[in-house]
Amino acid sequence: MEGRLDVNTLKIRGGKPLIGELEVPGSKNSALAILSSVILCEGEVMLEHVPNVSDTLTKLELLHTFGVRTQWVEGSLLIDAGELRSAEPDPDAVGRIRTGFYLLGPLLARLGHVRLPAPGGCKIGARPVDFHVKGLRLLGAEIELENGYYIARADRLVGAEIYLDFPSAGATQHLMSTATLAEGITTIQNAAIEPEVVSLAEFLNRMGARIEGAGTGTITVIGVERLEPCQFRIPADRLQAGTFLLAGAITQGDVTVHGIMPDHQTPVVNKLREAGAIVHEGPDWVRVSSVGRLDAIQVKTMPYPGFPTDMQQPMAAVLALADGTSLIDETIYESRIGHISELNRMGARIQLQGRASVITGVERLKGAVVEASDLRAGAALCLAGLAAHGETTVRNVHFIDRGYENLEAILTGLGADVVRLDANGKRVEVTQAGPGIPR
Ligand code: EPU
Repeated sequence: MEGRLDVNTLKIRGGKPLIGELEVPGSKNSALAILSSVILCEGEVMLEHVPNVSDTLTKLELLHTFGVRTQWVEGSLLIDAGELRSAEPDPDAVGRIRTGFYLLGPLLARLGHVRLPAPGGCKIGARPVDFHVKGLRLLGAEIELENGYYIARADRLVGAEIYLDFPSAGATQHLMSTATLAEGITTIQNAAIEPEVVSLAEFLNRMGARIEGAGTGTITVIGVERLEPCQFRIPADRLQAGTFLLAGAITQGDVTVHGIMPDHQTPVVNKLREAGAIVHEGPDWVRVSSVGRLDAIQVKTMPYPGFPTDMQQPMAAVLALADGTSLIDETIYESRIGHISELNRMGARIQLQGRASVITGVERLKGAVVEASDLRAGAALCLAGLAAHGETTVRNVHFIDRGYENLEAILTGLGADVVRLDANGKRVEVTQAGPGIPR
């Protein structure tokens, strides 16, 4: 979204405990991976529970460039990639989201040649695509990078043994989906085991792919000739769920998130328990409440099932108010740090030491005008604003809209005092369709 004019702000009057129950929308990262792979099928695919966030809208814009037709039908998304065509997508659209690049393999499988601008996404680190390119080459693609464009060709894709130097979620998803139409058997070793990899494999298998081992470190894909139409429901967003659970903790409230897999919340929930929050779990819900200040803890981000990097910044907001000195060690992205200066403007005491944030807990945060620098930094600032004394204005809300659907409506439903304002300071009413996609 860099460079896009966005003038909305969120105004949060903090200090109210959030109390209540909610269901979260579909997973952004699951949906984005599925929306890359959907073009492997020449027939119609129906996706339910697609999240109403701006990253989805950008992804659909890209798909339209390649001739894909989409239509909202009673809240579900009907996708027809039957008449896929070569195209030069707008570099700005590809530059806005990381997963634009995940179209490369599936487009190659369908069209035999592709020219795609280098990818974008939130600016949280270098975010190279070398594993993707290496894996696609092993599958038989010729790929060159020329003047900021990846140019790829493949007469046919063939199964291969692929080893990932790091269990990258995106590379696992991209290579696994591309391999579904390759001739023969592909194995991906040191594969990511993120829930979004598993949901993508379930989706591809629903279309007739033959994928085994998704959710383990070794994935086997037996190539098939074609994929068939299907209907699929995107699972709930574990990162939105985690954010609302943290909102319960930071405001000393009591929040229950329904319709989720509690297993996916294990790292967040365990760290909250360690810090003194009260956590209850049921078959498809998690409830977090807290009374008084939480204790300082140490957190280290790791690939799944470790503590998610995406929850690192929101957790920093929570620990900014904890009793004692906490440490968050970010091992995945080298510069997922945009929240620190802004939280400090609100009275937090966070110092960066290498990749670690040393957080000296304070008794109170105070409202301030702050700027989101990326999606999860924005979420962290909202959490801080909910707990702070006085009014917080969060600017650059478009970053938050990338991955949180109707955030202010959900927070208001939990008792928060949050409004969205336009450039003239006029209140923007929350609609059912939210800020993203007209349905
Ligand atoms: N990496 C490489 N080379 C590659 C690919 C990745 O060095 O070719 C490195 C990355 O630079 C990073 C690490 O591997 O240091 C992990 O990256 P990964 O590929 O797993 O991340 P991603 O697929 O680009 C997805 C999510 C991110 C989330 C990460 C980690 C999507 C669209 N994005 O990114 O989500 O942080 O996995 O779980 O699925 C977010 O939602 O806010 C977000 C940034």
